[in-house]
Amino acid sequence: MPNKVIPIRIAPPAAPSGGGGRSPATARGPLADTLGRTLRDLRVSVTDRCNFRCTYCMPREVFGADYPFLAHGALLRFEEIARLAGIFVGLGVRKIRLTGGEPLLRKDLPVLVRMLAPLGAELTLTTNGSTLVRHAAALKDAGLDRLTVSLDSLDEATFRAMNDADFSVARVLEGIAAARDAGFAPIKVNMVVKRGVNDHQVVAAARHWRTHGRPGDHILRFIEFMDVGSTNGWRMDEVVPSAEVLRRIGEVFALEPAEANYAGEVAERWRYRDGAGEIGVISSVTQAFCRDCNRMRLSTEGSLYTCLFAQRGHDLKSLLRGGADDEEIGDAIAAVWRRREDRYSEIRTAETATRRKVEMSYIGG
Ligand code: GTP
Ligand code: 5AD
Ligand code: SF4
Ligand code: SF4
Repeated sequence: MPNKVIPIRIAPPAAPSGGGGRSPATARGPLADTLGRTLRDLRVSVTDRCNFRCTYCMPREVFGADYPFLAHGALLRFEEIARLAGIFVGLGVRKIRLTGGEPLLRKDLPVLVRMLAPLGAELTLTTNGSTLVRHAAALKDAGLDRLTVSLDSLDEATFRAMNDADFSVARVLEGIAAARDAGFAPIKVNMVVKRGVNDHQVVAAARHWRTHGRPGDHILRFIEFMDVGSTNGWRMDEVVPSAEVLRRIGEVFALEPAEANYAGEVAERWRYRDGAGEIGVISSVTQAFCRDCNRMRLSTEGSLYTCLFAQRGHDLKSLLRGGADDEEIGDAIAAVWRRREDRYSEIRTAETATRRKVEMSYIGG
């Protein structure tokens, strides 16, 4: 199923005034969208493939053997990603997250990390952890700043049912341990909670991660099951509100709210009163956080998306491969951001949930 993309047109150069010609996008002041939100965070999907088939993300019935994943030539090359990332940093981006699909399936990913590290933005990666044992040290060495690992349950049967690819909990735990040994700390652990599937594991997960390693080494984040894409059979009654997660954990371990690390942080932080570190809740469904959303997404094949729930992207690759210079590309990105009015989670309804939206494995989590 092809994704809809809109061509990007290059604005004609501004008429010279007083000796000045085109001015770089950033020279016109902070880059804000129609709701006054400033671009800060770039998420880059480096592959649309994954070795898991998480039921809430890439259900096997849809992402089967004949699924039309992107051909290698359609993917942005590392040099292209690095060039775009540099332009984004020039526009104000301060954090770059590599995602997928499963980003570590992209061959030689540490090479890309090494190319991005000198840009000075915080460099982070979200992975399913299945190959971290092999890659953790090389990623650290290449300059990756932080790691987030998805792990939906510590119970073997529950985890296998959710990843639907026969991956064991032990393998992901070994990956997380390898990442710790390589020097990543803290490591964030993402757990998508689905009612009737893994919600009975919420307290067990909290108990495990709060005492694993030194306090604060691992930050467990509970994510509400979201209606991303249009293939995961999302239903509101399978969403476990974060308030319920916090109540269940709070009944066993006393919690207190913690300050956000930065404006627009996706996760709401909660601290254990006994000093055993913190957890986070990501409540896109019950407590939308669009108001501060400063994220732009670059798809595997070089389209720009201004919302995780977008129905169409903007074709940056044609511009890139058509010979546009950095300034033209920067202007084009800035123009897309300035027109942005997305606030999907704030206006979600039963109807929007069934719309055809771009898949998360393609756009990047
Ligand atoms: P850090 O604070 O830097 O660790 O980043 P983060 O909290 O954004 O972490 P991460 O990228 O792991 O995001 C966690 C999860 O939150 C993602 O996997 C998504 O499920 C969800 N998420 C992230 N960004 C958005 C967003 O813009 N909208 C919505 N609805 N969900 C998001
Ligand atoms: N709802 C919530 N989170 C999701 N993720 C993927 N699909 C969904 C969904 N439908 C999360 C994964 C991973 C990150 C990449 O996005 O669990 O942590
Ligand atoms: Fe793969 Fe992550 Fe999607 Fe699971 S959530 S199928 S690990 S990309
Ligand atoms: Fe941002 Fe869209 Fe998520 Fe709202 S729903 S926080 S606008 S990505």
